[in-house]
Amino acid sequence: MSKELETAIAAAKASGEVLRHNFGTTLDVRYKGPVDLVTQVDEESERVTTTILQEAFPTYGILAEESGRSAGEADARWIVDPLDGTTNYAHALPLFAVSIALEKAGELTAGVVYNPISEEMFVAERRCGATLNGEPIKVTEADQLPRSLLITGFPYDRDLLPEALSLWNKFIMGSQGVRRLGSAALDICWVAAGRFDGYYEKGIHAYDIAAGCVILAEAGGKLSDYNGGPMRIEGREVIASNGPLHEAIVEITSGRLGACDCSRRS
Ligand code: IPD
Repeated sequence: MSKELETAIAAAKASGEVLRHNFGTTLDVRYKGPVDLVTQVDEESERVTTTILQEAFPTYGILAEESGRSAGEADARWIVDPLDGTTNYAHALPLFAVSIALEKAGELTAGVVYNPISEEMFVAERRCGATLNGEPIKVTEADQLPRSLLITGFPYDRDLLPEALSLWNKFIMGSQGVRRLGSAALDICWVAAGRFDGYYEKGIHAYDIAAGCVILAEAGGKLSDYNGGPMRIEGREVIASNGPLHEAIVEITSGRLGACDCSRRS
């Protein structure tokens, strides 16, 4: 295991402790937009994470949800969401995670996603596979949309909601079911672990998905944008699938297949 991955795991555990300690307490909630909230715990978790990462790798840049970007001298940066699933956290729902990814020379090379309540730690490093609490994980082999369980999220940006709801209708008609659980980082890891067959979301940020993308890819999954083109980490949209289902998902997200076609498939 690289020193970077060891450090990311240590940082995830330390900020996970902050999240666990404050979970279920009365929080100071502030709004970044009409429904997009932030608490003092997001900020404390981010401070703990970035301090550990920066002390160990002072030349690396950082992109973090609450404090934004800081450039480093090296061609490497950490991509950090100190609390993915903030709305769940604020409602004392135990579905949230710390998400830390490493990008080097424009390529995602390592990822850690940690839920401190369930104590599930998803880890991956490029070309070394993906694990959940140390055990290897892999995606499902499902290749029929009507037999597949999908997961998605809805954007905070209300202008993007009509498209998200239209896709939700199509996927509900065409699959076994679609869930919305409120943490993109966990959503992608759960595809990687075979609990879901595919995930899609638009309006998403790099820090929500970066670590999950490494973990998914190392678990054998496939990533793309809504048209089936290469996934760009700051492209604000992603499909993360098991692989065999990818094209069927793209047919719907790209608009090539309408609602009637989706239901006829089931
Ligand atoms: C949000 C969650 C949610 C997704 C939103 C994200 P946050 O992140 O990942 O599942 O649907 O698009 O912004 O705000 O809880 O860190």
